[in-house]
Amino acid sequence: RAATDYQAEDATISQGAVATNHTGYTGTGFVDYTNVTGSYVEFTVSATAAGTSSLALRYANGTSVNRPMDISVGGTVVASGVSFPGTADWDTWATKTVNVPLKAGSNKIRATATTDSGGPNLDRVGVAAAADSQAPTR
Ligand code: GCU
Repeated sequence: RAATDYQAEDATISQGAVATNHTGYTGTGFVDYTNVTGSYVEFTVSATAAGTSSLALRYANGTSVNRPMDISVGGTVVASGVSFPGTADWDTWATKTVNVPLKAGSNKIRATATTDSGGPNLDRVGVAAAADSQAPTR
């Protein structure tokens, strides 16, 4: 099964703004995190069954300095200080993949900046069952 994409510009944003001033984003824009610790984007993600899912966070960081974020599910940090290193410029996007536990039904997945630089620019998150990345067995 393919990943389901959730656009950052459609998510809940705290201390950030939807922007379109760089190229290469998908959907109608991306989120420009305010340059403060604690700025976040929260996605509401539906899972058909409990289990490990892979999150593919598509981002740009036009600086040479890492912009780490904590990833939480339902208020619990499940991946701490995930690195979002520089991508050469703000028009160049990369994908960071993190495995997280989801419960069946609705899950609030939050990506929160942990330094006063704020987060990277965030385009979207793709969510897939972690098993989807395995080779087929038949
Ligand atoms: C620049 C860039 C923004 C980016 C910001 C930042 O202003 O144009 O897209 O979000 O730097 O440092 O976070």
